[in-house]
Amino acid sequence: METHEINKRFLDYFEKHGHTKVPSASLILDDPTLLFVNAGMVQFKPYFLGEVPPPYPRATSVQKCVRTGDIDEVGKTTRHNTFFQMAGNFSFGDYFKEGAIERAWELITTAQDAGGFGFDPDRIWVTVYENDSEAAGLWREIAGIPSERIQSRGGKDNYWDMGVPGPGGPCSEIYYDRGPEYGREGGPVVDEDRYLEIWNLVFMQDERGELSPKEGHPPVGELPKKNIDTGMGVERVAYLLQGVANVYETDLVRPVISRAEEFSGRRYGTDHADDVRFRVIADHARSGVMLIGDGVTPGNEARGYVLRRLLRRIVRSVRLLGVHEPVLPEFAAVVRDAMAPSYPEIARDFDRISDVMRAEEETFLATLTSGSKIFDLAAEETKRSGGSVLAGDKAFQLHDTYGFPIDLTLEMAAEQGLSVDEDGFRTLMEEQRQRAKADAAARKAGHGDLSVYRQLLEDHGETQFLGYTDLQATARVIGLLSGGEPVRSVREGGKAELILDRTPFYAESGGQIADTGVLLGHGVELRVHDVQKLVPGLFVHRVEVLAGEVGLDTELTASVDATRRASIARSHSATHLVHAAVRGAYGRRAAQAGSLNSPGRMRFDFTTPGAVSADVLTEVEEEVNDYLQTDVEVQAYTTTKDKALEMGAIALFGEKYGNDVRVVDMGDYSRELCGGTHVERIGQLGLVKLVGDSSIGSGVHRVEALVGQDALRYVRKEQLLVSQLANTLKVPTEQLPSRIDDMVTRLRNAEREIEQLRVQQVLSSAGSLADKAQDVGGIALVAERIAEGVDASGLRALAGEVRNRLGSRPGVVALFAPSGEKLSFVVATTAAARDRGLAAGKLVPAFAEAVGGRGGGKPDMAQGGGSKPGGIDQAITALRAAVGAAPTG
Ligand code: ALA
Repeated sequence: METHEINKRFLDYFEKHGHTKVPSASLILDDPTLLFVNAGMVQFKPYFLGEVPPPYPRATSVQKCVRTGDIDEVGKTTRHNTFFQMAGNFSFGDYFKEGAIERAWELITTAQDAGGFGFDPDRIWVTVYENDSEAAGLWREIAGIPSERIQSRGGKDNYWDMGVPGPGGPCSEIYYDRGPEYGREGGPVVDEDRYLEIWNLVFMQDERGELSPKEGHPPVGELPKKNIDTGMGVERVAYLLQGVANVYETDLVRPVISRAEEFSGRRYGTDHADDVRFRVIADHARSGVMLIGDGVTPGNEARGYVLRRLLRRIVRSVRLLGVHEPVLPEFAAVVRDAMAPSYPEIARDFDRISDVMRAEEETFLATLTSGSKIFDLAAEETKRSGGSVLAGDKAFQLHDTYGFPIDLTLEMAAEQGLSVDEDGFRTLMEEQRQRAKADAAARKAGHGDLSVYRQLLEDHGETQFLGYTDLQATARVIGLLSGGEPVRSVREGGKAELILDRTPFYAESGGQIADTGVLLGHGVELRVHDVQKLVPGLFVHRVEVLAGEVGLDTELTASVDATRRASIARSHSATHLVHAAVRGAYGRRAAQAGSLNSPGRMRFDFTTPGAVSADVLTEVEEEVNDYLQTDVEVQAYTTTKDKALEMGAIALFGEKYGNDVRVVDMGDYSRELCGGTHVERIGQLGLVKLVGDSSIGSGVHRVEALVGQDALRYVRKEQLLVSQLANTLKVPTEQLPSRIDDMVTRLRNAEREIEQLRVQQVLSSAGSLADKAQDVGGIALVAERIAEGVDASGLRALAGEVRNRLGSRPGVVALFAPSGEKLSFVVATTAAARDRGLAAGKLVPAFAEAVGGRGGGKPDMAQGGGSKPGGIDQAITALRAAVGAAPTG
């Protein structure tokens, strides 16, 4: 049975049993506790916690998941995978243990031609949590599983939570016995290879605190309701049903290996080292495509770094298979063909995905080239100093700066007959990890514990947001915190976090910055300087008490700074238009990678391959401003996610929870999922002026634009500048460019002339200097101090000229030019002097010390500088003595 068929059967089965089909959430759903979505329940977390009422009592999904805890292990065995799919059914306070067991059992044991998975009931084993006799009893009654195939285990195996505070519960796992050729008798407690876990049913009823019940710590509370969360490992079911040995042989993964076989001419299954590489390629290519598909771009931090590591490990593995051409886009295409039936967005977005892969591969190949040079130097140094071990800090530098995996360094070292100080390397890596951890801890402490906010949400429900239509409203204080702790009141001069039952203030999200404004009541005045949603749906106002005292239950009039808000709205609307225009110019592959909408100014980042030409940006600007003239009305409405996508709305990443989405339309030009605030008609934007674009790495470009009055002010400033120039240069503005061109040319010519004159002037003194030559033992010696202001090259030219005038006589010219606290000097010798053994370079040491200097050079000319201009006379005396000591004749 093909994997897509498994997914389809699962979803259809649960839909038939009253579950709402919910699409997989993005891998990078906004959840501060997770790097990537790693289980089907993540998108439903707020429903389990009671933060948001569930829109349906039952749901089913096949969730894309990424787990990156053991990237290094991938490939070494066939068990580890970074990407997998989890099929699940969920009950939010609806059915519980009995319903979950009944459904799972029916689906796995129903014959394949009757729509099930057709597993042999006699080969199914289950585990239950400690003394969950209720679950064990249900397995016996409903499924007829005999007691010997029901095993009980402790928290480590049979308690499930997210690894962080949040929902959790005891679980019951379903195993399939693959037969004696896979391991020992005795059920899952004895051998988890032979008995393969295919499905985990979690009886989600607890809220865990900092410490997990997995380690025996009691939960901190009960969830408002008893729920079901299950996760069936789609890949595992696939390889069992496809009769193959592991996930790498399944219909969705094997094609990538086959492509790598074609490239390399090597075969999978013949050599262990090669097999590891084939598996790394297959696993990572899939994760890479799926992550990029959800908007991750390679980078040096967090998600971006994980992606970068995955992609670089592929490139490296491919090279170890003997292939040196760029290959990532090729593998991406194979992944696309395999995954698109379940994830059509991968095909739709493929050009962009492939571009991101190509860019990263190029960057890494360049890195490999420069890193290899560093490596060669280090290797050479090691050998020269007689060593055979490459230092740990070198390996670390290669890793840290050039992204060299340690195995790459090890291998390159081995090729040179060297080993690597791996312990030293690991110590440095560990130190770096500790630093990163300390950073992360510091950041987390800044956020504080979110449970207070959750409690408020539970007690009062979501904040009612009025700000789409109203900028002023009366509201009641329902929560007040100071320093992260609930307080009764806050007095004048104090700062606080304040929660209202309803608010016109927009909380920062979707690239739109928060509103600011004031809250006024009887004798109290507060300034709002920031608003954040610390848990979904709860607006937290960060305020300062300007006068009076604010307490719980105080009635306040909340007023948003309307001018500022209008300006932010203009920026946000402009972002949508620029986004649409960029897409018009570059197609779907130009995907938004981030944005910032602040008063009067917008920033928009997007990915696209290659450079962004100035012409295109001019066109974008032109098109957007053209469209402003239509003055269409901005329409915002709520609909379902599916409907919105069907209508072609651009959906962004890290979307919010839930299925209802807000769509913002600007005529037929732009349609986006967006929770932000906008202008009423686009004519209100007035003018959109692009003021800059830049590349911010790995195919991401940034355009910035000014909107409305700010755009006008910018244009006015530029205009003023131009008219000032025109005034100064006394030409009409249109003649400015040619006028400035002219000026630059003339200036250059004039400078050249001055330089020539200066040289001539310096050289004009050559005659009188030559006349000063003194005879020292048959040598004509000119040793003189020159006026300030002659530079080194002038000095050299002058010395040469004086030497010429000495003609065929044996002669030495030494000129000293003081310049403030310093001096420069030059010594030149004629050919006849050199014949008598007088080399310029050799004469310098005779006097250098006297002027606090150094210098040297060739026999005919030597040059240097010093720090004691006061020693020039002494230097001349020393030089005369040295020349006098030269052999005569
Ligand atoms: N949430 C459960 C798991 O991930 C089903 O195993």
